[in-house]
Amino acid sequence: MPIFFTDPTDTSLPLYLLMQSEVDDFIAAQPKRAASWLNANGFSGVVGSHCILPAEQGIAAVVAGLGTDQDLKRTRFTLADVRLKLPEGTYHLVTTLTGAALEQQVLGWLLAGYVFDRYAKKAVPKAQLVAPSGLDIQRLEAIAQGEFLTRDLINTPASDMGPSELEAAATKLATEFDAQISTVQSDALLAENFPMIHAVGRASSRAPRLIDMRWGTQGPKLTLVGKGVCFDTGGLNLKPGSSMGLMKKDMGGAATVLGLAHMIMALDLPLQLRVLIPAVENSVSSNAFRPQDILQSRKGLTVEINNTDAEGRLVLADALALADEDDADLIVSMATLTGAARAAVGPDLSPFYVTEASDAFALVKGAEAASDPVWQMPFWDPYEKLIEPGIADLDNAPAGGMAGSITAALFLRRFVTNTPRYMHFDIYGWCPSALPGRPKGGVGMGARALLAALPDLLGYE
Ligand code: BES
Ligand code: MN
Ligand code: ZN
Repeated sequence: MPIFFTDPTDTSLPLYLLMQSEVDDFIAAQPKRAASWLNANGFSGVVGSHCILPAEQGIAAVVAGLGTDQDLKRTRFTLADVRLKLPEGTYHLVTTLTGAALEQQVLGWLLAGYVFDRYAKKAVPKAQLVAPSGLDIQRLEAIAQGEFLTRDLINTPASDMGPSELEAAATKLATEFDAQISTVQSDALLAENFPMIHAVGRASSRAPRLIDMRWGTQGPKLTLVGKGVCFDTGGLNLKPGSSMGLMKKDMGGAATVLGLAHMIMALDLPLQLRVLIPAVENSVSSNAFRPQDILQSRKGLTVEINNTDAEGRLVLADALALADEDDADLIVSMATLTGAARAAVGPDLSPFYVTEASDAFALVKGAEAASDPVWQMPFWDPYEKLIEPGIADLDNAPAGGMAGSITAALFLRRFVTNTPRYMHFDIYGWCPSALPGRPKGGVGMGARALLAALPDLLGYE
């Protein structure tokens, strides 16, 4: 997969990236034949458009349009789509864009290189880019590689991405970066120490487990917890077929934290990272957990099951309880947790919750810089009563379904009581139709925003 930039060559072709407002001056400054060619082809810098300027032989240059300021607000990664239209060759960028705006386009170029070809041959984009100067190229490459890992994991169907395959993917990542990894898988140990992971996962022929990876020996402690539901049938409260159709992506949180872990380790960031993944399949069997069962949890809180389809919060709760025993500076959970989050913000935005208001500012700033939009949601205390039913401490699926993403977040927060700073993302993990740099399918959400915010959040340079 062509993730990396190429080295400069003498023969690379200029790729002019122009705002619509720059096009007239650009054309006026061209030799007559080029100007007339651009005009004859009607090139006006419309967002995502391009025009190839011919040479005596082959191509002299390519111009591509970024559209208007309005388009820049509406469309991320325009250059990604341009890349897919370019003829084979090596290009170098010529543009007035700088800073974050330039970085976004260059990242778009890299993201356009993603191809999921595990099950069928797919065309790989042939255009290569010389690394533009003035950008942290290694960082962009690490980000793209992490994102590609996330996409591969989500796109791989449950038949090839069960709990053990997810563990294997984490182990592969750990090996690549010399991280420590261990897994709790024995039926007895899980039942004893992670009773809710056990309860949710036990109905599957593919054993549930808790994956625990650690990396780094110095610096602030960051713990990432990712929902690893490799397939979510809904359990005995079975999902209807239309809702089950996409549920291979229910390990999107795990895939995203692994992608982020890749970025952090590849960049050798000065922190102590821990990644916890409860990996299960929420399946149906005679030993499945049932509605009205009351589960014990690692933390000691009892949970009444009112819907076996609200399984993500259960497995995360036990993993969060473990994370909370470890005096982390920041715990972050990422999960495809609720349909309500998707209903609220759609597939592009990552809704997030924080216990510490200033962390939201840092994250929003990071999101902006990383072109990875997020939106803050409230840990709304008055709704706490919605998750307190009758006979147990907590209810996993409040009746009425009001504020579904918020009540799920409040549920999780109950399991983080020793760590002041907790952040939770209720992500979608899926791009329903192709956009620049994001083909239809699995997609990382929130990871780049978080990566950009880490120095602020954890206080290192
Ligand atoms: N994995 C789903 C949430 C989901 C569904 C995410 C569709 C993205 C798209 C989760 O396990 C679930 O089923 N949640 C239920 C909870 C409800 C039963 C309280 C939901 O959101 O409907
Ligand atoms: Mn579910
Ligand atoms: Zn789920």
